[in-house]
Amino acid sequence: MSTTAFEHLLVESEGTTAIVTLNRPKVLNALNAALLSELSVALLELERNASIRAIVLTGSGEKAFAAGADIGELSALRGAREGSAKARTGQGVTRLMERCSKPVIVAVNGYALGGGCELAMGGDIRIASENARFGQPEVNLGIIPGYGGSQRTMRLLGAGMAMYLCLTGETIDAHQALQCGLVQKVVPAAELMTEAKRIAGVIATRAPLAIAAAKRAMNGAAHLALDDALEIEALEFGALIESDDFREGTAAFLEKRKPAWSGH
Ligand code: COA
Repeated sequence: MSTTAFEHLLVESEGTTAIVTLNRPKVLNALNAALLSELSVALLELERNASIRAIVLTGSGEKAFAAGADIGELSALRGAREGSAKARTGQGVTRLMERCSKPVIVAVNGYALGGGCELAMGGDIRIASENARFGQPEVNLGIIPGYGGSQRTMRLLGAGMAMYLCLTGETIDAHQALQCGLVQKVVPAAELMTEAKRIAGVIATRAPLAIAAAKRAMNGAAHLALDDALEIEALEFGALIESDDFREGTAAFLEKRKPAWSGH
């Protein structure tokens, strides 16, 4: 399905869903620079691929989604400039996920620690297997989260939970993650991919322009002052009123039939 051959990723498709698998199982899918670069390329390719409507991101093996940034690579960093550049690279991948017009559903199949947890938070919807564990253990290494973790934990979970995770470095299990809103669902490991793909399939039946606009409105405006954010919502709403799919969606409802989206 992908035109590019990847070393550290598997990219497959099932109908309108792309499945991207972080694939360094021997090191619990630790995120090295090459993997992050490949993930950026894969996301950009999937953005351009008109037959793909949603992306499921998961990790290979039964133990980990990703156990963080590659600590071997981290240990070789020298100087603030190099450190900040490393952080910006990881942050960039999470921004690509957020800015992708197609929903990214993260299927967390085990450890999601450090950069793994941060990558998961870059996705739009997170489903966890019963054995998943989440955490931001960077303080054990003498650093802080660098791929957006200090900010997205605050936004997604609120200050108390964000401080708990980032200051203690302790991990939480899938049910605690569900309770604090870090994940939206917990399922047995054997059902994880089925459920993630089911959600992707549901999204694929909805109007494509509306899905992209919803992502833009939510990911793009949530940090703004409410009046500014509401204006973005109004503009996105207005633009959709001019779409063929809005005509089709309302007509299909009134005619009691399924809509046939053109994506225009
Ligand atoms: N970077 C590089 N290698 C990693 C890694 C990481 N973030 N996480 C795990 N690995 C490697 C281990 O070094 C080990 O390699 P080896 O077999 O060559 O020794 C292999 O993956 C398996 O990990 P191991 O530690 O033996 O598994 P475990 O079940 O005992 O423990 C974890 C699992 C996730 C608790 C443990 O690997 C861990 O704490 N990893 C680091 C988590 C972290 O601090 N992430 C934040 C980085 S910023």
